Amino acid sequence: MRDQHPLTLLLIGSGGREHALAWKLSQSPRCRRLLIAPGNPGTAAHGTNLALDVTDHAAVIAACRREGVDFVVVGPEAPLVAGLVDALTEAGIRAFGPNAAAAQLEGSKAFTKELCREFSIPTAGFARFREVAPALAHLRAGSIPVVVKADGLAAGKGVVVAETLDQAEAAVESMLGGGLGAAGAEVVIEDCMIGEEASLFALCDGTRAVLLGTAQDHKRVHDGDKGPNTGGMGAYSPAPVLTPALESEVMERIIRPTLDGMRARGTPFSGILYAGLMLTAEGPMLIEYNTRFGDPECEVLMPRLVSDLVPLLEAAADGDLSGLAPEWRDEVALTVIMAAPGYPGTVAKGSEIRDLAAAEAAGALVFQAGTKRDGARLVADGGRVLAVTALGRDVREAQAKAYAALDRIDWPEGFCRRDIGWRAVARET
Ligand code: AMP
Ligand code: GLY
Repeated sequence: MRDQHPLTLLLIGSGGREHALAWKLSQSPRCRRLLIAPGNPGTAAHGTNLALDVTDHAAVIAACRREGVDFVVVGPEAPLVAGLVDALTEAGIRAFGPNAAAAQLEGSKAFTKELCREFSIPTAGFARFREVAPALAHLRAGSIPVVVKADGLAAGKGVVVAETLDQAEAAVESMLGGGLGAAGAEVVIEDCMIGEEASLFALCDGTRAVLLGTAQDHKRVHDGDKGPNTGGMGAYSPAPVLTPALESEVMERIIRPTLDGMRARGTPFSGILYAGLMLTAEGPMLIEYNTRFGDPECEVLMPRLVSDLVPLLEAAADGDLSGLAPEWRDEVALTVIMAAPGYPGTVAKGSEIRDLAAAEAAGALVFQAGTKRDGARLVADGGRVLAVTALGRDVREAQAKAYAALDRIDWPEGFCRRDIGWRAVARET
C-alpha cells in the first residue's frame, strides 16, 4: 500500500499544458503543496512558481531537497530527453515521466522507426541517411509525395511533407546542411500515408498501458488547415473518428508491442505515450510518438478527467497501474488557442490582455501559455498565449461555448482560428 500522506508536488514546465496540469493536480486531495518551475502567471493561481533553470539538474535536485518535494511531474519533452528523470531518480526523488533512454521514442525518429520495424508495429516505410548524395538518390528513385524528417527534436520544424521532388530535395539539403543544427544530422525519409489524423494517449508503467483519452489537434495556423505548421491551434477530445474498436486496435497493435519491445530491449517506458496516428485504409498506423502530454491536447484531456490525476501518475511512476481505470466526463471538451501576431514566425510580444475573468464567467477555462505579468498588467510573451477551453454535450456545443467565451477576452492583437472542431462538427451533422 502506498504511503498516503499528502504530497508536495513539483511540476516542470511553463506552457498551457502545464497550466492545465497545475489546475488538475491542485484539486487532488493528495496534493498538499504544488510548486511549478518555472510556471507562468496562470500556474501561479494554483500553486507557487519557482524561478528555476530546469536544464540545470543539480539546481532542480537542490530545490526538491530544500522544498521537501515528494513527487516531480515533468511536462515538456526537452527535460525528459535531457535525462531529468534519470537525475532525479538517482538522487532518490520520485518522478513521473520516462528516463532518457525511453524518451528516445520522442527524441529520435530513427529510434522509433527501428523499433517499429523490429516489433512489427504498423508505420510508414522509411530509410535513414546522414549524407546528402544517397538521400537524394533515394528520393529520385521513389515516389511523391514523400515525407522528410530531421531525426532529433526540432520544435515542430523538423517535418516536411513534400508535394514535389524539388521540395523534398531542398528539405534534405537544408536539414543535412545543418539548417536545424544537431537535430538534422540524420534524416528519415518516409512514405506518405493517406488518411485522417488522430492522437491517442496511454498512461504507461513500464509494462502495462491504460488508455488516457483521444484527441484531434489543428496543426496549421489558418482556417481550413492552411498556412504553416504550428505546435497546435486548438483541439477537442474525444476524437470521434477513433471508435472504441479502433482504440482497442491501437492499444493492441501499436501501444502494447511498443511497451513490450521497450521492455525487451531493457529500456521500459513509463510515462505518457502520445501516439500520433494516421487512420489509413489499411488500419491505424503510427506517425510518431511523443513521450508527454500534448499541448493543447492536455487542455482538453484534463477538464474531462473525473479521476484524481495524482494517484494515476504515482502508480505509473511506481510501476503498478494494475486495477486503475480513469473515469471521464461524458462531455466533449474543445480548446481554441489565441496566439500573438506573427506566430508561428517571429512574434510581437508585450501587448496587454484583459478580461480573462469575463471569459471564465461565460463558462470557459482559460489556460495561459505565453503570458507574463508586467506590474498589474498581463501581457503576451510568446507565440501561443491562451487556450480557451469549454465542455459541451457535443463538439458543436463545446465549440460555441469556447468561442463565446473567447470573444469576451479583450486582446485586440491576438488571433485564433475560427474553425476549431470542423471535422467533428461535420461528422455530427
Ligand atoms: P510529426 O512531427 O512526425 O508528427 O509530423 C508532423 C506532421 O507531418 C504530422 O502530423 C502529419 O500531418 C505529417 N506526417 C508526418 N509523417 C507523415 C507520413 N509518413 N505520411 C503522411 N503525413 C505525415
Ligand atoms: N500538439 C502537438 C504536440 O503537443 O506535440
